[in-house]
Amino acid sequence: MIKKFLVGGNWKLNGNLVLLKEFSCNKNFIEAVETSSEAIEVLICPSFPYLGTAKEAFAGSSVSIGAQNCHAAVSGAFTGEVSISMLKDISVDWVILGHSERRTIFGETDEMIAEKVKVALNSGMRVILCIGESESQRESGETKIVVEAQLEKCLESLKSLTGVNCERLVIAYEPVWAIGTGKVATPQQAQETHRHIRKFLGERLSLEQAAAFRIIYGGSVGSGSAAELAKQDDIDGFLVGGASLKVEEFTKIIKSI
Ligand code: PGA
Repeated sequence: MIKKFLVGGNWKLNGNLVLLKEFSCNKNFIEAVETSSEAIEVLICPSFPYLGTAKEAFAGSSVSIGAQNCHAAVSGAFTGEVSISMLKDISVDWVILGHSERRTIFGETDEMIAEKVKVALNSGMRVILCIGESESQRESGETKIVVEAQLEKCLESLKSLTGVNCERLVIAYEPVWAIGTGKVATPQQAQETHRHIRKFLGERLSLEQAAAFRIIYGGSVGSGSAAELAKQDDIDGFLVGGASLKVEEFTKIIKSI
């Protein structure tokens, strides 16, 4: 099985129809995506209102579209929420879960995230599960303990994935101190934690699964840092925030891999 390098753009609470058009009509961007499509998978995650338009805008291209969050329930009295079945209804099969902004600003716990991961994977979705330590946790040497604890609650769901299904689960290691700060983890720092995550998954699940899951890095990735990070053995992709809002910069990242 070929493990494609995943480059995801997390637009967060940014972007609009104009930006979508800027990307979908940009020849350089589309050419970069298509020429690398054997080895690189490109994903854009705009806000909920733009998912349908994004699907249409990129139809016929190799760009995938994903959501930034979802609710674990199928339906019900949950004002303001979006379910997996709604995402599937509009043919969106990628979802980011457990982003640090969901955890810290919106109070999502490991338990809530584990429930969403379970429901999403059971429904056949592709999931980017975000984990990562804060600055103080890194300074006090707790990085490994933190990422293990964040993964722990999701292990049961991950265990059920075998063979080709392993490509449906992506772990995004996103050190909180690197998100939106311009402070990228060094390739060595990122590689060390990615290797640890893979070792942990190998011990708790199986070596096959640990090798098959993609572990991607997120945190101030830009065209200047992408190439060196991408060379690391255990880095299988990026989740890009700020730099994914600029079509030239995002294209440069894809081309630098
Ligand atoms: P950033 O965001 O690239 O702007 O640091 C990454 C993320 O939050 O996924």
